[in-house]
Amino acid sequence: STGMTSGRSIVLVGLMGAGKTTVGRHLAARLGLPFVDADVEIERAAGCSIADVFQLYGESAFRDGERRVIRRLLEGPPMVLATGGGAFMDSQTRALVRRQAVSVWLRCPLPVLLRRVAGRTHRPLLNTASPRDVLDRLMTIRHPVYAEAEIIVDCGDNNVEHTTTRVME
Ligand code: S3P
Repeated sequence: STGMTSGRSIVLVGLMGAGKTTVGRHLAARLGLPFVDADVEIERAAGCSIADVFQLYGESAFRDGERRVIRRLLEGPPMVLATGGGAFMDSQTRALVRRQAVSVWLRCPLPVLLRRVAGRTHRPLLNTASPRDVLDRLMTIRHPVYAEAEIIVDCGDNNVEHTTTRVME
């Protein structure tokens, strides 16, 4: 099945709540590839949660760690890699991903994202009075950059099976 991607990893990008982790797990199972979540790998490397990394060391330190972790992962055997929403915004990471992997942007409408992130507290950027305003602003800034992904899948309000099938196609 890795023939489909000529041995390259598949990297899922998109905003918080787009379903990168959930779709990534399903996609990996269907392709017979390992699934890795970059956020989890960063937490493992840092020895604390992402919220703690932000609070103790700041966002730019988090971004440095994120860049290193993704570079290391892409040097290894092919996998399905879910990245944090900001990862693809880094120009070095983006260049690396575009060169070495198949990038897939899971594009979702704002209400769907909002519903999925509601009540979750582990995302420091959404730890604010109005997650809607934050996500709305991030959409404006990030969508033109996510659009540089090799494959774009419109998720709408579709379930994980449906979206996974779209990515496979
Ligand atoms: C971030 C998204 C998060 C995590 C961090 C920052 C972002 O990952 O990396 O909180 O900048 O969009 P998810 O997209 O998996 O929530």
